[in-house]
Amino acid sequence: MNRKRTTKEWFKGWSNEYDRTLGRINRHHKMLDLAVKMSKVKNNEKILDIGCGTGLLSLKFLKKAHCFIEAADISGEMLSIFRKKVNRLGLRDKINFRVKEAEKMNFKNNTFDVVASTVTLHHVRDKYSTIKNIYNITKPGGRFVIGELDVDTSGSLSDVKRLRRIMDYLKEELSLALKEGGVNAFSRMYDNGKKHILNHGEYCVDLKKWARLCRKAGFENIEVKPVPTFRWMKVLKCTKPGRKRRQP
Ligand SMILES: C[S@@+](CC[C@H](N)C(=O)[O-])C[C@H]1O[C@@H](n2cnc3c(N)ncnc32)[C@H](O)[C@@H]1O
Repeated sequence: MNRKRTTKEWFKGWSNEYDRTLGRINRHHKMLDLAVKMSKVKNNEKILDIGCGTGLLSLKFLKKAHCFIEAADISGEMLSIFRKKVNRLGLRDKINFRVKEAEKMNFKNNTFDVVASTVTLHHVRDKYSTIKNIYNITKPGGRFVIGELDVDTSGSLSDVKRLRRIMDYLKEELSLALKEGGVNAFSRMYDNGKKHILNHGEYCVDLKKWARLCRKAGFENIEVKPVPTFRWMKVLKCTKPGRKRRQP
C-alpha cells in the first residue's frame, strides 16, 4: 500500500473516534485556540483550513468571527463527520467542503485572507512546494498559520538518538492522552506515535525548519509561539507581503 493510501486509511479508521480521543486532550484545544488567536481573523474574511478533519479548528474560527471557510481534507470520512456537525449547527452557508490533498490546493492566486493548517502538513513529504502554493493562494497581506509538533523525526530509522528524541516527546504525549482522554485516547496516540517512529506517513520537522520554508516561499513577519503547557507543540504565523504603496 502506498504511503498516501496508508494515511487515508488511518484517518478513515480514526474518524469515528477522533473527537473522543485527540479531541479530548486539552493541549490540542490550546493549540487550536492559539492558532485562531494568532491568525487575527476578522469578520467577512475567507479562510482555507487544510486537513480540517472533524472541523475542530474551523468551528473555532467561526466562533471568533463571521468568516467563510473552505474546508479541505484527504479523508471523506473525516469530512462527513464535520459536515454532520455543520448541519446540526445550522452553519451550512458558512462552509464549503472539499476532498482534496494539501499538495493540490488548486485555487486561484490571492484567494484567501487566512490559510490555516493544524497537525496536517507533517503528513506531506514535499513541504516546500506545498508551502509555495499556499503562498500563491494567500492574498497579499494575508496570513498563513500552522500548528505543528516541534519534533524532528527525520533521519535513519535505526538511529537510537533519533528514537530517544521521539520517545521524549511521546512520554509526555501519552501521559496526557491517558490522563485526559482515557485508555482509548492513549491507545490511539500510542499507535500514532509508532507511525512517527517508523515514518509511516508522518514526516515531522521542527518549527525552525517550518520557519525557513515559509521564509523561502516569500512569507514575512514570522512569529512562533509555544502551546501553553505543552512545549512539544507550537504555532507559527507569517504574512504574505502586502501591495506596496505607490510613492507620491
Ligand atoms: C491530526 S488530523 C488534524 C485535524 C484538524 N486539523 C485538527 O487539528 O483537529 C490530520 C488531518 O489531516 C488530513 N490529512 C492527512 N494528510 C493529508 C493530505 N496530504 N492532504 C489533506 N489532508 C490530509 C487527515 O485526513 C486528517 O483529517
